Amino acid sequence: MEIEFLHGPNLIQILLLVFFKFFILLIESYLNLNNGKKKSFNIYYKLIFNIINYLILSILKIQEYIKQNELKLYKSDFTVNSMEIKIALIGYGNVGASLLKILKEKRQLLKNNFNMNYKVIAIFEYDGALIKKDGIDIDSLLKKGDNYRELPFWKDGITFTNELISTIGINLCIEATPTNPDTGEPALSHIKIALNNGIDVVASNKGPFYLEYDKIKKLAKENNSYVNYEATVASCVPILSLKNNLIGNTITQIKAILNGTCNYILSRMTAEGIPFDIALKEAQELGFAEANPSLDIDGWDAAGKLVILANELLGWSKSIKDVDVRGISGITPQAIELAKSDGYVIKHLAIAENDKLLVEPRLLERNSPLNISGTLNVIELLTDYAGPIVLMGRGAGGFEAASAILNGLIDIAKKRGYAK
Ligand SMILES: NC(=O)c1ccc[n+]([C@@H]2O[C@H](COP(=O)([O-])OP(=O)(O)OC[C@H]3O[C@@H](n4cnc5c(N)ncnc54)[C@H](OP(=O)(O)O)[C@@H]3O)[C@@H](O)[C@H]2O)c1
Repeated sequence: MEIEFLHGPNLIQILLLVFFKFFILLIESYLNLNNGKKKSFNIYYKLIFNIINYLILSILKIQEYIKQNELKLYKSDFTVNSMEIKIALIGYGNVGASLLKILKEKRQLLKNNFNMNYKVIAIFEYDGALIKKDGIDIDSLLKKGDNYRELPFWKDGITFTNELISTIGINLCIEATPTNPDTGEPALSHIKIALNNGIDVVASNKGPFYLEYDKIKKLAKENNSYVNYEATVASCVPILSLKNNLIGNTITQIKAILNGTCNYILSRMTAEGIPFDIALKEAQELGFAEANPSLDIDGWDAAGKLVILANELLGWSKSIKDVDVRGISGITPQAIELAKSDGYVIKHLAIAENDKLLVEPRLLERNSPLNISGTLNVIELLTDYAGPIVLMGRGAGGFEAASAILNGLIDIAKKRGYAK
């Protein structure tokens, strides 16, 4: 924290001045007495009067000094030049590496626009961590590519534990490890450790939030920490943050397409009349679908995101167990053709309405704003006075997720006073 010194006398100067004047007064009085002048009552009276006068003056000066310094300290609370966010990144994969690239590229912009300074102190991988207390040079790290374990500050076998983080001095943790859909681990433990230690969290990993949304929120509150998980749903589309701009409205329903893989497959089946298997194979070849695509095509990925949306935007307290889920593998080209002939398309929708959560293929009017093609995501919120609001964008991609993480990072930095 930088303290800016104001111009003007300090306390010692004021006290010296007061005592100096008082001293002169005593000498004057003494000389007057010894010069044979009358030891008149007047002189004693004048002496006492002057002493009181100078005492009052010194009290006033001291009060003024204290007030000035209170102002300086108050002012220093807003002088954030030397405050830094000290970051630990957990998971140096697609999203983690993309984030570091953006942080490097935008360092000057973050400084200029938000007066925001940061250091990446630690980067954790499954088998160890890079730890440098004075900050990892992101440029050199990125140049190392996959060989970053050769760096001298790589430590084998180190993991994100209570004991470790109390020694490395971080104040924000970015969680970007893969999701175990059943346990939410290892991300769930990472998030809990961070929050329990008063460390703010920005996460892209949805598992912990569709499994233990309420517990995580409660833990953050108890520890006076912030937790941002905008990247967990529709990646860069700022759907969770939209809540802050709709505080005067009640959101009553959510309808969304939240899985790019399913939407790509259905779009291809609709456009080309090809069967499900062929469209899936094409998606895998293009890198839109995993080798094991079941989480996507069976609807569980969309279900997890729907839980987070409903809890955040509708104020529900659901978990993934509460979602009624049906996948898209049973959809045939004939069903798609039939829908088409009636002016409809088949889309894999995630719906939250009337206290129920559903993920299933549904007929959608061809001109509906939810009828989007390819790997895009789209979310429609129904509100009481603003009517329907639709947001659409890329629901996947390293840079897209990293962009949502960066927004979360800046938001927390502002709340903490690390950024303006
Ligand atoms: N990519 C996207 O488009 C996107 C969008 C939104 C949200 N997300 C979410 O963001 C998270 C990261 O996604 P990603 O695409 O970056 O995945 P990724 O490329 O697989 O990266 C994850 C990284 O975490 C590492 N890791 C695994 N276990 C770990 C542990 N216990 N401690 C520390 N690191 C560990 C992995 O190491 P190894 O690979 O060596 O095992 C890998 O380097 C996921 O939860 C994903 O669902 C991704």
